[in-house]
Amino acid sequence: MLMSQIGITRVEQEVQVGVARLVDAVVNKYGRSRGKLIPMLQEIQSELKYLPRQALEYISRKLGVSLSEVISVASFYHQFRLEPVGDYVFQVCFGTACYLRGASEVYESLKSATRNTRIAVEMTVEKARCFGCCSLAPVVMVINTKTGDKSIYGRLTPSEARKIALKYSTLTHGK
Ligand code: FES
Repeated sequence: MLMSQIGITRVEQEVQVGVARLVDAVVNKYGRSRGKLIPMLQEIQSELKYLPRQALEYISRKLGVSLSEVISVASFYHQFRLEPVGDYVFQVCFGTACYLRGASEVYESLKSATRNTRIAVEMTVEKARCFGCCSLAPVVMVINTKTGDKSIYGRLTPSEARKIALKYSTLTHGK
């Protein structure tokens, strides 16, 4: 039966092969050890920017660990992502100081900016825990998911947050 007849396109098939190769390489590097699951997931995520379900299923088979255990580990640690992200992740701190100084409004402003412009594809906006720079509240950390570079923006108003979102959109589109 053709792959397209069972709902798998050629591109999807190539992606699946690529994910399997990556997991194979990571398992070969660390060995088939349940104790190395976290560094293996970290390495897979650093390549793919998130942990696709297919990678979790494949690594569970390779290690002989149940899928529910792998998902439980991936879900427990805040560092792991189970959904794809954009080129830039905007993490809005919702720690106490930031929350009291307007984190919700900053968050809504960023969400609105991504909804109303073409930057939606490149940006992911999410809530985060305290970054440890509470005197700058409210704080947003911007992570470049390609390079891993991080930038901190503090004492933000909703309109400043929106300008920052547009600035990163400009960077992405090279204007
Ligand atoms: S509460 Fe936001 S940085 Fe600490």
